[in-house]
Amino acid sequence: MELSDDKLEAIIKLVRQHTGIAMGRHKRVLLQGRLQPRLRALGLDNYGAYIARLAHDRQEVASFINSVTTNDTAFFRTPAVWRWLEREFLPEWAARAESMPLRIWSAAAATGEESYSLAMTCLEARRNFPGLRFEILATDISSDALHTARAALYRGRSVERFERDHPELFRKYLRPVGDAYRVASEVSQYVEFAEHNLLQRPPRVAGFDLVLLRNVLIYFDAEGQQRVLAGARAAMAREARLVLGEQESITRLDTDFVFEQAHVYRIGD
Ligand SMILES: C[S@@+](CC[C@H](N)C(=O)[O-])C[C@H]1O[C@@H](n2cnc3c(N)ncnc32)[C@H](O)[C@@H]1O
Repeated sequence: MELSDDKLEAIIKLVRQHTGIAMGRHKRVLLQGRLQPRLRALGLDNYGAYIARLAHDRQEVASFINSVTTNDTAFFRTPAVWRWLEREFLPEWAARAESMPLRIWSAAAATGEESYSLAMTCLEARRNFPGLRFEILATDISSDALHTARAALYRGRSVERFERDHPELFRKYLRPVGDAYRVASEVSQYVEFAEHNLLQRPPRVAGFDLVLLRNVLIYFDAEGQQRVLAGARAAMAREARLVLGEQESITRLDTDFVFEQAHVYRIGD
């Protein structure tokens, strides 16, 4: 089913309204591919009827958001970030504030691999810093992604890469279940998942010491990025660090953040 120009415009507007994601007209084929299953599921034969449905059906809005978001992620994505955490951030934190729980926000956590990688990294750091306490809040706008994240059950490429790159951690923290692997409860107990839209107020004001906001800014335009970064800033304690994705640079934006090292930012003086 072909998306006409005017219906494409209307869908692009709805994507932006509900998620902040900025899409151009070149996403026509992608949007058709993602939304056709929704039209079929609802027994609709044209996009006009689907757009009308979105105006009054909140449940369908959630399915729409699930359909238009891209939830690609991986365990220990971008090795440099995990090296920095293990070798710099966590030892410095332990030396500075050993008795305080480290509060981490994994924003746009997708299906949870990043959040569980964080918990495993903190658990491993405890071998050197036994007093290290931590808590992880992992949020995303996609209810489908969060459903997978909470189940903590992974298979296929995601676990194959994890096993290849981190065999010891894989054996220590993942449990085989049929053709899949489940993250052990000793890891998952540290992660709380919640639905959150980055365009809305942060889940806690000044409540986090470390915020991972990776591979999501790329979907927003400059205005949306600025808004999301203002939310991240408000969520961060004074000495907190913000971690962005590999392809995300914010130096051209007007923010309070100062570049510290690759992928890592702090709040400026
Ligand atoms: C490509 S994944 C990134 C996952 C993980 N942070 C990583 O780097 O591997 C992008 C995630 O951003 C989420 N997302 C998109 N727009 C969002 C919004 N407005 N609020 C919260 N999450 C959003 C998507 O649902 C998706 O799960």
